[in-house]
Amino acid sequence: MPDTIKLDASQPADLEHAAAILRAGNLVAMPTETVYGLAADASNIEAVRRVFEAKQRPVGHPLIVHVADPERIALWVEKVPDTARRLIEKYWPGPLTLLLPKKGDVSDFITGSHPGVAVRMPAHPATLKTMGLLGRDLVAPSANPYGRISPTSAEHVLSGLSGKIEAVLDGGDCSVGIESTILDLTGGKHVIARPGQIAGSDIEDFLGFKLSPNLTSQHAVPGSVKRHYQPVTHTVGLAAHRFSELLPRLVPDGERVGVIWWQSPPGDRASESIRLGATVDEYGRMLYTAMHSMDRANVDRIVIELPPQEPRWSAICDRLARACNEQFHGDLEGSSR
Ligand code: TXA
Ligand code: MG
Repeated sequence: MPDTIKLDASQPADLEHAAAILRAGNLVAMPTETVYGLAADASNIEAVRRVFEAKQRPVGHPLIVHVADPERIALWVEKVPDTARRLIEKYWPGPLTLLLPKKGDVSDFITGSHPGVAVRMPAHPATLKTMGLLGRDLVAPSANPYGRISPTSAEHVLSGLSGKIEAVLDGGDCSVGIESTILDLTGGKHVIARPGQIAGSDIEDFLGFKLSPNLTSQHAVPGSVKRHYQPVTHTVGLAAHRFSELLPRLVPDGERVGVIWWQSPPGDRASESIRLGATVDEYGRMLYTAMHSMDRANVDRIVIELPPQEPRWSAICDRLARACNEQFHGDLEGSSR
């Protein structure tokens, strides 16, 4: 394949170009408000198959169908429950993916043979315009090689997938910075399958009833945390309330350590440091960008100052649990993995 080309989301001709590449069954990484997605025409199974190949993603991992107009989910979803209609009205376009009963003819390639299909309307205007030009829906997993950190800029996409995809549409940095909340509404369920910026408590307040607990969540089953969203560099999480005390004890003399912090300045113990914002939204927006930068900063180890393990931080705690090789909440002996 020739080099991956970079298209400019502010140029109408580049959006036409992106749509033409997709129409031909090829791949374009596109900006969304959450993370960049690796997009292919969802109605072209050969194009969908190429997404798995480019990411080196195991077949059987399902993909989210992205639509530019809520009405288009009727092509994919068997029945849209009232709850889903209300949520779509409230949150779309935006970082909420709904898992709904699929239509019989939706390819197992897209659903991974699950009974549901995941649908979402992303909020980035250039991506919505490109989809409008294409007149079709897109599958779009995060545009990173399998198991690595999701990209929040066009540069991140190129560092992982250059030469493996036709183009990246550069629409700037993602404003949310972590993947969408996934709400499973199949089989009468109301379960958060993946936490995100839109919190379960916000959805409960809006709907006026409680969601069911996620019994299979990684949080509920300590020790089963999957390695995913990982930097290449060994990454350690340290609880904020013990950060300043534990950091010097954790890092051997002479080791180059890259510190990602939000409350506790690491001082001269850090060879490199990046400060995250102190609110949930700011921390989330900056986290992957900081991990990408630190991973390229030639350090021996990355140490991340963890946020409190409270419900409003649950999406971030979820991503950090997967990104870190080990986490310390109490003493250095008590690693959580
Ligand atoms: O914010 C996002 O959702 C980003 C942007 C690009 O839209 N996309 C994203 O896609 O994070 P991906 O493929 O990296 O993660 C999608 C998650 C996976 O954990 C997958 O297993 C789950 O959604 N999923 C997708 N379709 C599903 C289905 N039919 N049944 C169960 N889980 C599904
Ligand atoms: Mg992903």
